[in-house]
Amino acid sequence: MSDHVGVRHLVVTRHALVRQVLADPVTYRPDNALDAVTPMPVTALRVLAGHRFRLPPTLANNSGASHPEIRAIVAAALHPERVAAQRPWLTVLVRDRVARLGARLDTGAPVDLYADLAADLPLLTLARLVELPDAPVGAVKEFARAALELFWAPLDTDRQLALAAEVGQFHRVLRDFAATGGGLAGELRAAGHPPDVVVGALFFLLVAGQETTSQFLTLLLHRLAGEPAVRAGLRTGDVAVADVVEEGLRLEPPIVTWRRVAATDSTLGGTAVPAGSSLVLWLARAGRDPAVVETPDEFRPGQRGSRRHLSFGAGAHRCVGDVLARMEAAVVVAEAAPLLDGVTVVRPPWCPDNLTFRMPDAFVIRRSAGAPA
Ligand code: HEM
Repeated sequence: MSDHVGVRHLVVTRHALVRQVLADPVTYRPDNALDAVTPMPVTALRVLAGHRFRLPPTLANNSGASHPEIRAIVAAALHPERVAAQRPWLTVLVRDRVARLGARLDTGAPVDLYADLAADLPLLTLARLVELPDAPVGAVKEFARAALELFWAPLDTDRQLALAAEVGQFHRVLRDFAATGGGLAGELRAAGHPPDVVVGALFFLLVAGQETTSQFLTLLLHRLAGEPAVRAGLRTGDVAVADVVEEGLRLEPPIVTWRRVAATDSTLGGTAVPAGSSLVLWLARAGRDPAVVETPDEFRPGQRGSRRHLSFGAGAHRCVGDVLARMEAAVVVAEAAPLLDGVTVVRPPWCPDNLTFRMPDAFVIRRSAGAPA
């Protein structure tokens, strides 16, 4: 396919082929993972340069020798035991919010489950696992969404300039923190990684480690609003929360595509792939491959193939925050699904044009007239 600027991509949709590409980082390298899909004009590059913005390969786009070590340091910070230790705290926080949102619904007022519940939970949780710059939650959210738009959306020049200024400014905050901050930043420095690498790792973590999960929580709650039988099963215990999360990841992944670039000439599913080709791996589509899932388009927690989705990628670069994302989603499903009983969707999530991220902006509900409180 040709994209909006005429660049050709090979779009990979079948589960087996997406998996084959992800599992072979030698033939299909991750180097283009963070390339801007709308090439940046010199004016925007100047804005970034003015902020001394640099993003050397650290995690997702790093096929170099430093990747395993950087990844190991990040993985240690997100170790399953450390994640599990946050669960009681998060449960209390979500339960408290859900009680207040339920009371608001009882008054007949609308509730935005993105802004009022899902938006900041992942960032608050991440901050307890990884020391982060002392920036207000709102500023981090804005920076992260600006970065997702700048690198993955079709844009005009004016918008690119505005986004470059926003992303550049936050890069400055990260640079200061990378030079002095403790926790993960300190460990990366102690392992001998230069300041640019520390900034790059923090930059990616602040985007990938919270915005993705906020998006997922919103999309999953919206999906559950239209799945009363699944909610009934959750209530009676016939449907497991973990199965709902997995089916949600399969059908409502916040990251719909991910890219690789061919390092050598190869053949994929009978199609020639010349060296240098950009491959767009359609993760969301692979999750609906009838070769893998029994009823691909239906939300059936626990069905055969439900867990075989590729929403976290696969292979050497597979998402290192999957345990954290799953824990957060499980807490939110368990605590917040009852809020969806007897409500009307006032405003479903709207997702802007973006190659990779869904970026829902709101999800507003209101108690239906006559529904029991
Ligand atoms: C539902 C939420 C999330 C989804 C769907 C998701 C999805 C992904 C995907 C598709 C990749 C690329 C994998 C590949 O190239 O094979 C990735 C990489 C990554 N993710 Fe996530 N992610 C989520 C949440 C998180 C969280 C919570 C964190 C950390 C706090 C995180 C940190 C990372 C990192 C560091 C990488 C790069 C790993 C590497 O290159 O070695 N992600 N994620």
